[in-house]
Amino acid sequence: MDKFVITGGTDLNGEIAISGSKNSALPALAAALLTDEPVTLRRIPRVRDIRTMERLLVDIGSQLDEDDEAVRLHTPNIVSPEAPYELVKTMRASSLVLGPLVARCGRARVSAPGGCAIGSRPINLHIFGLERLGAKINQTHGYIEAEAPDGLRGAVVHFDRITVTGTEDLMMAAVLAQGETVLRNAAREPEVVDLAALLTKMGAKIEGAGTSDIRIEGVERLGGADHTIIPDRIEAGTYLVAGAITGGDVTVTGCVPEHVGALVSQLQQAGVDVTQPGGESLRVRGGGKIRSVDMTTEEYPGFATDLQAQYMALMTQGDGIAVIVENIFENRFMHAQELGRMGANIRINGRQAMVAGPRQLTGAGVIASDLRASASLVLAALVARGETVIDRVYHIDRGYEKIETKLAQVGANIRRVE
Ligand code: EPU
Repeated sequence: MDKFVITGGTDLNGEIAISGSKNSALPALAAALLTDEPVTLRRIPRVRDIRTMERLLVDIGSQLDEDDEAVRLHTPNIVSPEAPYELVKTMRASSLVLGPLVARCGRARVSAPGGCAIGSRPINLHIFGLERLGAKINQTHGYIEAEAPDGLRGAVVHFDRITVTGTEDLMMAAVLAQGETVLRNAAREPEVVDLAALLTKMGAKIEGAGTSDIRIEGVERLGGADHTIIPDRIEAGTYLVAGAITGGDVTVTGCVPEHVGALVSQLQQAGVDVTQPGGESLRVRGGGKIRSVDMTTEEYPGFATDLQAQYMALMTQGDGIAVIVENIFENRFMHAQELGRMGANIRINGRQAMVAGPRQLTGAGVIASDLRASASLVLAALVARGETVIDRVYHIDRGYEKIETKLAQVGANIRRVE
């Protein structure tokens, strides 16, 4: 298992180019199942979750062809409408094939996801939505079986809580349903908007993506498309925090500044200088005192739960106490204990973390527990005195493309060892 060895204490200076969004690429790949024509997707990040999704699509029946420019998927026939446990247990987003499979071939068999490092993460709302669209669902032997032999029918689906992949799954189911579907209390994340843009290019009729009410008029068939995935806002946010925490001068390029608006506002409140030198870049200059500022995670456009761990690492350098409330997942503070091993002073009480700063962190052996928790350990290691060894970096490889190369380019002392 690979490890990262990081020696802290160097300022980061320079530019970091942002990759395509993992969480936008995953549903986009699944959407290719909706048509028998080729779909070309550009700016797909080369990360492990994407390879897992590609493996799943090939098992289902897609022909996959990729080069540096694009991933091309062609699914003339669905060979096996199934997402097995072996894949779902490594990547929950596998459940994104449920909607497209039922829509395309009237049936799907997807392993029920179990628990996960950040919370229980059920998919009951995906199932509820599909039932509203007329699918018959049977849960047996750890699998969810959905059937709609005569096709799905449009309906009103009111989500009782906001779910990102649930909204995406239902959108993909509804595009081929008969009649109109209305998704209420839908997720407004940029990834949902990006998926709607792709589906629209494929011939779907969707209105309201990016708002809480999405209206979809089903069509009989979808065609191929060529689509470029949006930049990864969580990757951009992670590198902005890297600049801030090291007191460096980092410009992230090729991002959508609006997508990280809540983080930028939070950094500015903490006294970090963030400017927008161009339409697609953000520059962060640290070095001054970091103020401790409370933060609560929320659905978009609020502060992303996927940046909570990174923000916590920053607050270990704050000038007082910051209260961080995690509203989206019930168990997403696993990084706090590891940060504690590096000298951070963090107390957890349910969904609330109290971070007391400023602390001089010191390098230590730590273990990555999930994707974003691992990113926070990398950030902490960049300011820690001495050497940090982060074990199980496969968690980071799930979602960050070439993180060690990108950080080394701006001056970080980081290397991967086997
Ligand atoms: N929830 C339910 N029932 C459902 C679905 C969700 O109760 O059927 C609950 C969840 O347990 C959670 C909340 O609703 O407490 C929100 O979950 P959501 O469904 O929005 O999360 P997700 O779609 O499974 C996506 C991202 C996550 C990100 C969350 C929240 C993808 C592939 N994953 O997950 O990304 O944290 O939205 O923004 O888009 C990551 O990239 O590290 C990551 C975990």
